[in-house]
Amino acid sequence: MKVLVIGKGGREHAIAWKVKESRLVKEVFIAPGNVGMEEIGKLVDISEENIDELATFAQNENIDLTIVGPESVLALGVVDEFEKRGLKIFGPTAAAARIESSKDFAKELMKKYNVPTGAYETFESLELAKSYVNQKGAPIVIKEDGLKAGKGVTVAFTKEEAIEALEIAFSIPNNKVVIEEYLDGFEFSIIALTNGERVIPLEVAQDHKRAYDNDEGPNTGGMGVYSPVGKIDSNVVNETLEKILKPMASGMKQDGIPFKGFLFGGIMLTKDGVKTIEFNARFGDPEAEGILPRMKSDFVKAILDLMDEKEVKLEWDERYTVAVVMASEDYPKSSTIGSEIEIPQNLESIVFHMGTRKVDGRLETNGGRVLSVVAYGNTLEEAKERAYLDVKKIKCKKMFFRNDIGSKMCYNNENK
Ligand code: AMP
Ligand code: GLY
Repeated sequence: MKVLVIGKGGREHAIAWKVKESRLVKEVFIAPGNVGMEEIGKLVDISEENIDELATFAQNENIDLTIVGPESVLALGVVDEFEKRGLKIFGPTAAAARIESSKDFAKELMKKYNVPTGAYETFESLELAKSYVNQKGAPIVIKEDGLKAGKGVTVAFTKEEAIEALEIAFSIPNNKVVIEEYLDGFEFSIIALTNGERVIPLEVAQDHKRAYDNDEGPNTGGMGVYSPVGKIDSNVVNETLEKILKPMASGMKQDGIPFKGFLFGGIMLTKDGVKTIEFNARFGDPEAEGILPRMKSDFVKAILDLMDEKEVKLEWDERYTVAVVMASEDYPKSSTIGSEIEIPQNLESIVFHMGTRKVDGRLETNGGRVLSVVAYGNTLEEAKERAYLDVKKIKCKKMFFRNDIGSKMCYNNENK
C-alpha cells in the first residue's frame, strides 16, 4: 500500500521511518518532508497548509492511508477535506483538534466529563485577570488561548511575573487567557492511538520543555525525551487511561466530535493522583522520535486495525531510548538558517531531522529545532551515554543542546 505522511519535522521523520518498516507498505510519500527523509520515501513538494492540493495528490496517487503530523494542519481541517473526498486519514477533524488549539475548549470538556486538571478561569480583560492573580497569589500559570506550540505559557512563581505575562498577552487584541492553578509533581507525556472509541496508549516518555540544563530558561517545544519513564508504572498508566484519556474520548464522542488520531496528554503526577496539564491533537515532537523506535509492532497495521475496529495489541522493545534535540543557538527566540552541519556516517544513533535543508549538497540548519539524536540502551544511563557520544560528533557552529536529557528523573526522585 501507499502511505502519505504530512509534515516536515522530526516527528514526521520518525513517523515516516516507522511507516517504511511496515510490511504492508510499498511506498512512502512525505509532504513536504525534509532532506533527512529522502532515503525513506518520495518528498512531495506541496506545503502542509495546502490541504486542497494534498487531497488532490492523495486522490491522483491512490494513497491508501494518510497520517498527519502537525497540529496547524489539523486545525485547518485536513481530515475534514480528505474524508469529504472519501480518503482514509488518521487524525482528528478541525472540530476535535480544538482540544489543542483552544485551551478554553479543552478545559470546558474536562470540566464536563470530570477529567482531573488544575482549577482555572478564563479572562478576556486585563483588569479582571489581574485582580484574579492578586486574589490567588503565586505560583500560578498563565496560558494564552490558541496554538502557541508550548510557547504561550508562563509558569509564574511571583505575582509580578504573572502580571507581566498578562500585560504581554493582553497587548495582543482580542486575546483570551486561561489562568490556571499551579500543579506540582512529575510531568510526563502519554500518547494514545484512538478511533474515537477505543484508546490504546503507547509507551510513556518524559519531555524536557525548558531550553537549558536543570530546567532553566524559556519554555520550548521540547529539548529531548527518554522512554520508558521508571516512575510512571503500569498503575499510573492505567489511572491516566481510566481517569483522563478514556473519559475524554468517550465524552467527545458523546458530544458529536469524536477524536480519531493521536491523543496526547501532558500529565502531571501529583500527590493527589494524575492531573491533565494539556491535550494535544497529534503525536509529540520529540516524543515521536523517542517512542516510535521502541515500537516492535507494525505501526501501520496497528493504525489500520484500529480504524477498522479490529483488535490491536502493541509490543515494545524493552530497551530505553534517549532523544537529544540539537537546536539553533537562539532557539526558542529565533532560529538560525544556513549554518553548516556535518553528521559523520557511522553513528550508532538514529538521527531524525527536525529543521534542515541542503544547499549545493551541503547540509544546513533550517529551523529552531534542527536534529533529534536517538540512542538505545539497556539502561537509561547507557542510552544517555550513547546519545551524547553521537551528539558530540555532530559538528555545527550554531547549535546547542541540553546536557541533561534523561537525568531529570534522577533529580526528581531526590526532590520528591
Ligand atoms: P503547555 O503548553 O500547557 O504544555 O505548558 C507548557 C509547560 O508549562 C508544561 O509542559 C508544564 O511544564 C508547564 N505547565 C503548564 N501548565 C502547568 C500547571 N498548571 N502547573 C505546572 N506547570 C505547568
Ligand atoms: N514535545 C511536546 C509537544 O510536542 O508538544
